[in-house]
Amino acid sequence: MRTLPALCLLLVGIAAQAETPQRIGETYAAEAAGRQAGFTPSAQRGETLFRQRFGNNDKMPACTSCHTDSPLSAGQHVVTGKAIRPLAVAANGQRFSDPAKVEKWFGRNCKEVMARDCTPAEKADFVAYMNEVR
Ligand code: HEC
Repeated sequence: MRTLPALCLLLVGIAAQAETPQRIGETYAAEAAGRQAGFTPSAQRGETLFRQRFGNNDKMPACTSCHTDSPLSAGQHVVTGKAIRPLAVAANGQRFSDPAKVEKWFGRNCKEVMARDCTPAEKADFVAYMNEVR
């Protein structure tokens, strides 16, 4: 019975960290709905954002610069050459499961490509696309 408290702590720890892509998408959608009543996420808008070329950074004009034209494919960092696993949940079950990781990379990549933060609506759409693309 001495292992029971340790096991409980472990389970609580896992529950606090692991999130599903659905839940992460819903959290962004709720934040977006708070700013824009009736907001519903759109995978189609998410795809448009993924493919859009922004004129802010010659090396990385779009999300596709590193993530390739298909979220189902492995990508490559345009600067470091490092391999990047696919962004689509269907191709990579580890995607959109850690809210801190998702926020960190939205923060970094949106600023680099778009020269601004992504809005909660854009994040909700992007996650919807990555959840649905097959
Ligand atoms: C300069 C290369 C580069 C560009 C351009 C880029 N990304 Fe990424 N992205 C990465 C790297 C590197 C990672 C982290 C490594 C990994 O998770 O495989 C990552 C991870 C992510 C993640 C984390 C997903 C998760 O849960 O694991 C999100 C979200 C993301 N990128 C969104 C975007 C969006 C949105 C754009 C376009 C606005 C974009 N990225 C453009 C390199 C890039």
